[in-house]
Amino acid sequence: MAIQTITTHPIPGQRPGTSGLRKKVGTFQQPHYLENFIQSVFYTLGDCEGKTLVLGGDGRYHNRAAIQTILRMAAAHGYARVLVGRGGILSTPAVSCVIRKHQASGGIVLSASHNPGGPDGDFGIKYNIAAGGPAPESVTEAIFHHSETITQYRISDAADIDIDRVGSGQMEQMRIEVIDPVADYAELMQRLFDFGAIRKLFAGGFTMRFDGMSAVSGPYAKAIIEGMLGAPAGTVINGEPLEDFGGHHPDPNPVNAAQLIALMAEDDAPDFGAASDGDGDRNMIVGRRFDVTPSDSLAILAANSGVAPGYRAGLKGIARSMPTSRAADRVAEALGIPCYETPTGWKYFGTLLDAGLATLCGEESYGTGSDHIREKDGLWAVLFWLNLLAATGKPVEEIVAAHWARFGRNYYSRHDYEAVDAEAARLLMADLRIKLPVLAGTVLNTHEVDFADDFAYTDPVDGSSAQQQGVRIVMKDGSRIVYRLSGTGTEGATLRVYLELHEADPAQHHRPTQQALASLIAAAESVASIAMHTGRATPTVIT
Ligand code: G1P
Ligand code: ZN
Repeated sequence: MAIQTITTHPIPGQRPGTSGLRKKVGTFQQPHYLENFIQSVFYTLGDCEGKTLVLGGDGRYHNRAAIQTILRMAAAHGYARVLVGRGGILSTPAVSCVIRKHQASGGIVLSASHNPGGPDGDFGIKYNIAAGGPAPESVTEAIFHHSETITQYRISDAADIDIDRVGSGQMEQMRIEVIDPVADYAELMQRLFDFGAIRKLFAGGFTMRFDGMSAVSGPYAKAIIEGMLGAPAGTVINGEPLEDFGGHHPDPNPVNAAQLIALMAEDDAPDFGAASDGDGDRNMIVGRRFDVTPSDSLAILAANSGVAPGYRAGLKGIARSMPTSRAADRVAEALGIPCYETPTGWKYFGTLLDAGLATLCGEESYGTGSDHIREKDGLWAVLFWLNLLAATGKPVEEIVAAHWARFGRNYYSRHDYEAVDAEAARLLMADLRIKLPVLAGTVLNTHEVDFADDFAYTDPVDGSSAQQQGVRIVMKDGSRIVYRLSGTGTEGATLRVYLELHEADPAQHHRPTQQALASLIAAAESVASIAMHTGRATPTVIT
């Protein structure tokens, strides 16, 4: 075994996006590509001597090969210890949990989240800091800058390590501990939720389907829901992580989790349905013939947080990303706590959680979480709902309807135009920005514009700022249209249009969402000329 210094050259395009560096698998397989990025991470971190690193991923294609390379590079940089999930498996929330519990200096998550996997799919890498959350932009930018000037990297020439059995091994001076990927996480969940009440619920015949989407959350859901909570075997479906996710798109929304949605529409549907994404940080909550929007889910969990032992002391605040509906704001107001509006991406919640300003946070993109870790957490949200269902004895639909009756309903939808020409998307946003100053006071299909701007954010804790985080048009009636370009796509550009309308009248709470939003949808097209710019008459995905 020896540590080698390898000569390399900068490879363009290694700037991390909304959530780490995501590229096609083929890009990551190019000579030096992965090594350059990892060297840039370790260089940016500075002294790694004597420190502990957590390493794992969602099991997608290239996960195992990348883990061996990263272990060799970590050994060459003087890490004392690396905790690796058995089989290379660690969900994103589990990485965050393990970093915090074992006081590691950080962790590397190998995942492209909900993006398809397999040899032709996507791969990704994200560095998480000691608090357990994604590295802030100052760090990811420094990593990118180093990747632009890199000339060499350090790596051990040690042989592959067996990562399929729990136990310890050694590489150079570094100890490698292969850990059970579920244990630490399960122990944390047990402390937050009333497992006794949920066990009783299942013992009483309550039925559920959890769709693991052949991705990372299957083993966690099986161990916790079927194991610790006593749900019958078969409650978790698609529960084995596969390298290509069974050819599916592991994104838990009604479009991609069509199998679960169909099941929940049958006459003898289970009482409760849920799904999680590729790396286990997203969640979808489904009742009988009824799916709960992520924005509503955040608001409902906040309004009922007292059912869970971990949150009985009360909430300090709620945080949501700007495009997420304002349903949570109404709950915060009722609870007399602040509600923070941040740019898109979980990394912006970190400072608020660390400073104790927020307890719960969420995004419209099927992400919900709390200060228990520093990532969004799919299974956590599902367990929170189970705790709520156990505490109230009411079905999902009834809980949601009661919430709307109290706070009003925020009709909400996101229209995605995927893989459009990048230049066309850039022009659309540029044209929109030019129009912003004259929109206030105009009437768009009966909605009078209150103000229109390009969302900018100053972090109330560390004072850092972020510009151009999405164009928003806010109406006097409280409805909104938001436009932004995705920062996670790997093909062309993806335009996201977010639509929201508040309806106070319970008699109007059961309309089809797209119908309720029709006037805003038309307004969104007329302001941005989406069809003209993108050549698309309809969105690719509506959630
Ligand atoms: C998307 C979601 C965003 C989420 C991110 C990572 O980012 O919109 O809310 O934090 O994935 O899961 P986007 O592609 O919109 O930049
Ligand atoms: Zn994810």
